[in-house]
Order: sequence, then structure tokens, then C-alpha cells
Amino acid sequence: MNFLRVIGFSVVILLLFMGFSHILPQVEPDTSAPVEVSTDGLDMDGMIALGESLFSGKGTCTLCHNGMGRAPDTLVMDMSTTYPERLLDARYKGVSAGKEGAKAIEAYIFESMTDPSAFVVEGFGEKGSNDTISPMPTVNKAPIELTVVEMNAVTAFLQDLAGLTPTVPLPSADDAPVVEEPSSGEAAPLLTSGEAVVDEHGCAACHDLGGSGATLGPSLYGIGKRMSRAIVMESIIDPNAIIADGYDADFMPADFGEEMRGSELLLLTDYLLALPDAAPVNEDDGDEALATTGLEVVENFGCAGCHDLDGSEADIGPALNGIGKRMTADQVRVAILDPNAEITEGYEADMMPDYFGDDMAESEIELITDYLMNLPE
Ligand code: HEC
Ligand code: HEC
Ligand code: HEC
Repeated sequence: MNFLRVIGFSVVILLLFMGFSHILPQVEPDTSAPVEVSTDGLDMDGMIALGESLFSGKGTCTLCHNGMGRAPDTLVMDMSTTYPERLLDARYKGVSAGKEGAKAIEAYIFESMTDPSAFVVEGFGEKGSNDTISPMPTVNKAPIELTVVEMNAVTAFLQDLAGLTPTVPLPSADDAPVVEEPSSGEAAPLLTSGEAVVDEHGCAACHDLGGSGATLGPSLYGIGKRMSRAIVMESIIDPNAIIADGYDADFMPADFGEEMRGSELLLLTDYLLALPDAAPVNEDDGDEALATTGLEVVENFGCAGCHDLDGSEADIGPALNGIGKRMTADQVRVAILDPNAEITEGYEADMMPDYFGDDMAESEIELITDYLMNLPE
């Protein structure tokens, strides 16, 4: 059975390489580009309907809010009893803390989109954050970028679903028009760049792409050095075939293969393989400030993604607690600057990035070495 799957997959990849992508999911002509729709004069039923289509469409909410356990299953749970409890929860510090009623719930839902960490549902926080940091993207920012009217529409949809009368304001003539995706049934427009495929399928909601900083999935920077072309494609079409270390199965959506054309998958794969080794640091303010503490160096260079330094439980590399007892400062320095000079027993070469020597200032190398030498066991 497994053998047949492997054969079947190899055939698909072969066809892709041979340029037969047109016989895979049919490429339709671009007849249905997204259109701008004025929301002026929309009534509450219209808002609810718009919210419903945004929830599974542009908002990409159903990527995580579904029955797979990535996030609370919003469409199924009983929001009418759960949300009032959230507002009274001692951990909730947001705008509706201690309040009740439909207006307070409206504010809670809206705030969940613009400030997801205002309340983190127990068990869903970022690893190691003790449920203080939400992994949910801020949906009014790139890459999702819902407008206020759109977030009001989603809120109206969820209030209605909870059995409450929606309390959101209706849009006025001054509000920006909503960009409507072609409705299902019609062919989606053919995407012509890898970046557009990333945007369309919400990869940046979970992977740190385009500056999203998302951490639900592994960083894809430098993936061309870690994975072959065929494995990258397989990871996209059949994410459960190989599970990245430190992550759970059934987390990455498994239906991208059905939703993408062959040509789009090829563009996406090219785009990922061409990513630089590390995410550009501080894209906004050009000159990045030098780190001034060892901890900042750890954070800026992502050491804790692979090493357990503080209970992060990362295990791609050896735990660094108590390293000062095992190694001299000089050995630690070499391990950072030239990781393949000596491979830690039980680990493989070429796993730890070898560009820290180029990217770190001498002062940062000294700070990080000092910091590691003094880590408690
Ligand atoms: C990348 C995954 C992801 C996406 C995309 C996402 N969410 Fe979330 N969301 C989460 C997680 C995880 C939580 C639980 C942690 C928390 O409370 O912030 C959550 C929490 C929430 C909550 C609070 C739920 C509760 O039970 O109190 C609401 C409301 C919500 N999301 C709405 C949305 C909406 C609307 C969208 C789309 C516009 C969306 N989310 C997109 C992951 C996601
Ligand atoms: C809901 C969150 C989520 C979304 C959306 C998502 N991924 Fe992932 N992805 C993950 C997780 C978690 C893993 C690690 C587990 C695994 O290997 O399946 C992963 C693994 C991967 C890997 C393998 C990386 C490695 O180092 O092993 C690739 C490649 C990848 N994703 C590409 C994509 C692309 C391209 C998209 C958009 C089309 C996408 N992902 C959308 C969560 C997501
Ligand atoms: C992509 C994963 C990854 C990242 C990111 C990473 N490392 Fe490593 N590191 C490894 C692996 C795997 C090893 C073991 C193999 C080897 O020795 O090269 C290792 C080995 C080490 C060692 C030697 C440990 C020992 O017990 O022998 C030190 C010290 C170290 N890393 C420090 C760092 C620091 C500091 C950073 C951040 C600036 C960092 N690493 C970032 C994967 C990583």
C-alpha cells in the first residue's frame, strides 16, 4: 500500500519535471480576477453573508479554525456560553474584561483579530509562552490584511452563529470597498508567481515568510540547502509524509495539492528553493541595531529554534544548558563560527547553519559565548 503511494507520487513528480503540468489539475483561462465591491448600503444580512465568505476565503480563518485541533473549532463550539466565560477569566486583560452582553462579545471577537494575545485560549499559546502569546496572525496586518469593514462582517457572522443579534456598525459610503474573491464554482485566476501562490494559500500564517514572523510551522529560509526539490514538493502536497522535527502531524493543511495547479506548485517550489538562508532581519528600519545582551543574540539568530536553552524543548541540536561544564569558551566559539569543524556526538554535519560567523559582529560573538558559558544546567 505504502509502496504504491510512493510509486504514485514519483509518477506525479516525474510528470511535473517533464513539463506535463497541463495534464494535472486543468488550467482554466483567467476569467474571474478579484473584483472591488462597494459595501455602501449593505444591510446586516449582507454583512453576515460577507463575513461567512471572508471566514473561509480571504481571512484564511478555516486554515486553523477547523476540527483538526490547531485552534478552537469556532464554527462548531458553543460561543454563546464560552465567550461570556472568557470575559470573566482572570487571565483576560482586554477591552471587554469583566463586561457582559452582545456588545462586549462583539468587542472580544474583534479584538481576537487585531490583538490575538489579549486572551490566549488555554493550551493554544505559542510553545514555551505558557499561554501568554497567541500563534494566531494579526489579521488586519499583512499578509491577510482584512479591513475594518471586513472584520466587522466576520464579527457579525460569528455573533449570528452564536445565536446573538449582531451589533456591529453597518458600512458607510466613506468605507473602502471590499475586494471579493471569485465565488467557488468559478475557476480561481491562474497565479503567475510563487509569491502570489504563498499569498493565496496563506502559507505565511504559519511559516515566517514575507516578514510575518509566524512560528506555527518551521522556517522555510535556507530550505534549498536542507531539502531536495522533490521533497519540498512532497512536503507541500502530502505534509504528513515526513513530519519536520519538533512539529506535529496533521497540522499543515493536506489539501494544497488539490487546490493548486501543477504550474502553481512549480512556481511555489522555485520560490521556496530560492529563499535566502535566513529571514532578513529588521526589514523596516534598514540598519539593524547590534544586540547588546547574549539573550538578544539568541533571539536575533534563532538559536532556540534548534537548541533547548530555556526549556523551549527544541531538539534539532544538543541542549546547551550547562555547556560551560563540558566545553571551554574557545570550543564554544568554534562550535558557533565553524559548526562542521567538530560534530557533536549523535548529531549530523551540515545541520547547524554555518553563516553566523559572517552575520554576527565580534561584540555579538563575545556576548553569545559568554551567555552560553554561564547557562545553568
Ligand atoms: C494560523 C492559524 C490561525 C488563523 C489563520 C486564524 N486563527 Fe484565530 N486563533 C488561532 C489560535 C491558535 C487561537 C487560540 C489562541 C488564542 O486564543 O489566541 C485563535 C483564537 C481565535 C479567537 C478566540 C477564540 C476563543 O475561543 O476565544 C477568535 C474569535 C479567532 N481566533 C478568530 C479568527 C478569525 C476571524 C480568523 C480569520 C480572519 C482567524 N481567527 C484566523 C489560530 C488562527
Ligand atoms: C496551519 C499552518 C500551516 C500552513 C497554512 C502551512 N504550513 Fe507548511 N508546515 C506547517 C507545519 C506545522 C509544518 C511541520 C510539520 C510537517 O512537516 O508537516 C510544516 C511543514 C512544511 C514544510 C516542510 C518544512 C521542513 O523543514 O520540513 C514545507 C516545505 C511547507 N510546510 C511549506 C508550506 C507551504 C508552501 C504552504 C502554503 C501553500 C504551507 N506550508 C502552509 C504548518 C503550516
Ligand atoms: C537549524 C538548527 C540550528 C540552529 C538555528 C543553531 N544550531 Fe547550534 N547546533 C545544531 C546542531 C544539529 C548541532 C550539533 C551538530 C554540530 O555539532 O554541528 C549544533 C551544535 C552547537 C554547539 C555545540 C554543542 C555541543 O554540545 O557540542 C553549539 C555551542 C551551538 N550549536 C550553538 C548555537 C548557537 C549559539 C546558535 C545561534 C546563534 C545555534 N547553535 C543555532 C543546530 C542548530
